Amino acid sequence: MGGRAEIGSLILLGLVRRLKAAYVRFDVLPLRGLGRMPLDVTVAIEAKRRKPHVDELERWNIGRHEIVREDCITALRSMPDASVDVIVTSPPYNIGVAYKTYDDKRPRAEYIAWLRGISRELSRVLKKEGSFFLNVGSTNSDPWIPMDVAGAFRDTFVLQNHIVWAKSIAIGDDTVGHFKPITSRRFMNQNHEAVFHFTQNGTASIDRLAVGVPFKDKSNIARWGHSRDRRCAGNVWFVPYQTVRSKAQKFNHPAGFPVGLPKRCLQLHGLENAVVLDPFLGAGTTLIAAEQLGMRGIGIEIDPHYAAVAMTRLQSEIDRGKG
Ligand SMILES: C[S@@+](CC[C@H](N)C(=O)[O-])C[C@H]1O[C@@H](n2cnc3c(N)ncnc32)[C@H](O)[C@@H]1O
Repeated sequence: MGGRAEIGSLILLGLVRRLKAAYVRFDVLPLRGLGRMPLDVTVAIEAKRRKPHVDELERWNIGRHEIVREDCITALRSMPDASVDVIVTSPPYNIGVAYKTYDDKRPRAEYIAWLRGISRELSRVLKKEGSFFLNVGSTNSDPWIPMDVAGAFRDTFVLQNHIVWAKSIAIGDDTVGHFKPITSRRFMNQNHEAVFHFTQNGTASIDRLAVGVPFKDKSNIARWGHSRDRRCAGNVWFVPYQTVRSKAQKFNHPAGFPVGLPKRCLQLHGLENAVVLDPFLGAGTTLIAAEQLGMRGIGIEIDPHYAAVAMTRLQSEIDRGKG
């Protein structure tokens, strides 16, 4: 009997070893809900191995950043009060985007009520002098979306600045940037989205010159007593998408923003070493911006596929910075 049990445990041990080897060989990421998916996410596995977190399956530390695969309200509730300097995010717009798991078409009232709940949690975790940048776009048939969404944050935050994100602009006959062209007898092409800059009481200081421009008329420098050739660029930001030719180049996410957008928001807030939060992380763009600026990012994403993409992307950015 004893001999059989020994052979049994030896076989079991062998099986476990082979399984472990398969995980490493085929780059299988054991995320809950993802199953065993062969992705190019060896880096994510490595990151998890290096620093296992409280709940191994849900949280990962990548460099100085943290990615949480969780519903944002649940994850936010686990965060301490006043622990974040800047929030930069873009929620689902409720326009039927084909996300992998999230249903982007809910009754409007339910969607707005959901955002109100998130707003309260964001206000709790944001520091008194913090900034919260909320990017929202619209469709031609539903132009009220950004206003309605901003309204959901109105009870908890003060709208300190309203920025227009221009994705494409025509100056004379020249056009720069990208947008999705539409064929319509009623509507124009959609070239912009909103970025609402919310703060706790409307008095957070910002570093306008960090995203400023040189004076056009240099005589203004001395005339107005400026110490350097830099002025506020205003609240229309031209931040184009990079030219892409495949979904993979968009990190297989249907609704990402370009890195330049969160980067500009973080620079405008102007705090070095800031703690940055994105509760709708998607493919991880905000954390890429935080990494590039030497800040620490926390990203929350409900979908295991996008969380995995964000991890891979962030690790590559960290490696790129080292190399
Ligand atoms: C507009 S996308 C964000 C894109 C991101 N800014 C980027 O550049 O990749 C919204 C994201 O929110 C995620 N999401 C939806 N509901 C969520 C929830 N309850 N908690 C966390 N993430 C959620 C979706 O899966 C989607 O990836």
